Amino acid sequence: MNERRRFLKVIGGAALAASLPACTGSDPTASSSSGGAVGVPGNGSPKVADVLPGTLVRGPGSTLVGRDSGGLYAMTSLCTHNQCDLRTNGVVSASDLTCGCHGSKYMLDGTRVSGPAPASLAHIKLTVNADKTISVDPNVTVDASVRTPVT
Ligand code: FES
Repeated sequence: MNERRRFLKVIGGAALAASLPACTGSDPTASSSSGGAVGVPGNGSPKVADVLPGTLVRGPGSTLVGRDSGGLYAMTSLCTHNQCDLRTNGVVSASDLTCGCHGSKYMLDGTRVSGPAPASLAHIKLTVNADKTISVDPNVTVDASVRTPVT
């Protein structure tokens, strides 16, 4: 291979690598490279008092529990891209939730904002028990607008 052809091959390879998205879908357990805190807070057994307005905490199993002005809601914590669990591999801020695997962003209510995730997070049934603990049923999906008022 002559020098000009080799140079073009190297340049072409570099350009291709630079244009490929970071997301290959091959490493769903990769951790965030941000160096910041990773994972949604909470122990997976939230009580109503644990979920302050405008926050998101770990729910039981692969779920998240949030609260906004309408009340409480629950949704799956599995990123719609490659199923990374946002409970342990997500970064939550005051305004959004970022998947630590490939950078998809969701609003705190699970609405997809950007990144390779093809859809928003599915909302699931939430129940407040008599002792103010929160139960969720991942087998029952509900509309994303459903809220359980906090009384
Ligand atoms: S698993 Fe790829 S962005 Fe979440």
